[in-house]
Amino acid sequence: MKTLITGANKGIGFALAQTLGRRGYDILLGARSETRGQAAVEKLQAEGINAQFVKVDLNDLAQLSSLAQLRDIDLLINNAGIAGNIKSDAGDFDMEKSPFAYTTADLQETMNTNFLGTHAVISQLLPHSLTENAVIVNITVPVSQEYWAPLAYVTSKAAQNAMMFAFGHQFSKEKSAKQIFGVMPGAVATDLNGAKVGDNPVIKSPEETAELISHFIFDNKNHNAEIINFDGTIYKSYEPGLRSKIIKDVAKNGLKRKLGRK
Ligand SMILES: NC(=O)c1ccc[n+]([C@@H]2O[C@H](COP(=O)([O-])OP(=O)(O)OC[C@H]3O[C@@H](n4cnc5c(N)ncnc54)[C@H](OP(=O)(O)O)[C@@H]3O)[C@@H](O)[C@H]2O)c1
Repeated sequence: MKTLITGANKGIGFALAQTLGRRGYDILLGARSETRGQAAVEKLQAEGINAQFVKVDLNDLAQLSSLAQLRDIDLLINNAGIAGNIKSDAGDFDMEKSPFAYTTADLQETMNTNFLGTHAVISQLLPHSLTENAVIVNITVPVSQEYWAPLAYVTSKAAQNAMMFAFGHQFSKEKSAKQIFGVMPGAVATDLNGAKVGDNPVIKSPEETAELISHFIFDNKNHNAEIINFDGTIYKSYEPGLRSKIIKDVAKNGLKRKLGRK
């Protein structure tokens, strides 16, 4: 079995590479820096894991086109991401920074990395690089909590989540055996948020987080088009009420009539 993990030189991505490598996966360790990527590969190889560096720079669409040459990937983990200028007068990692304090350029950079970069990775790999029943996992966050408003981060992840739902529904329509789903691991101590294990009881280590994410990958359930929270709660839509109303209307009247077509 073979997995490509983006942003795997450190944090949750590296812990996932270790966990999956220990389960016998061949690891394609995606990183934007060859130096940091190779250093991580060497750590995995030192414990007997079959690992190799693959350059993945989410801000370089031309570079990402080279991913289309990869073959036989059973598991793609879209992990690479940024928090999107969460610096404020309150500190370098201000997840409560006012949404009004973000510039359009902040949103553009974060959207480019977390959403468009991730879209490019998936779309380069979909035609020929993934196995028939490959699983694609996006590492994501809640995007609509009152206490949680880092604007660039949550809008980019909301777009990524919307893409996940759209791709998952298309897999279902095409009766594809592939799956795509999101996992929200909760707060994890990494360079992304500057948090440390022990700062707060809810903060997990990257290693615990990798075990948790693996649990959902290997639980023998089909999670296509789902977002799974760390406590196991499953979200199938952002607008569950709307979804069921539309489905009832379409079932009764047909999609064409609903859209006003003859
Ligand atoms: N930490 C949390 O509490 C938490 C919670 C929920 C979800 N997540 C998600 O988990 C994922 C991993 O984050 P983390 O917490 O492990 O953070 P991290 O330690 O900062 O790791 C982020 C990884 O993404 C890479 N990356 C950043 N920009 C990139 C780009 N343009 N192209 C390619 N790679 C890029 C980084 O590479 P460099 O080393 O080169 O910068 C690094 O390998 C992210 O998608 C994040 O949103 C994190």
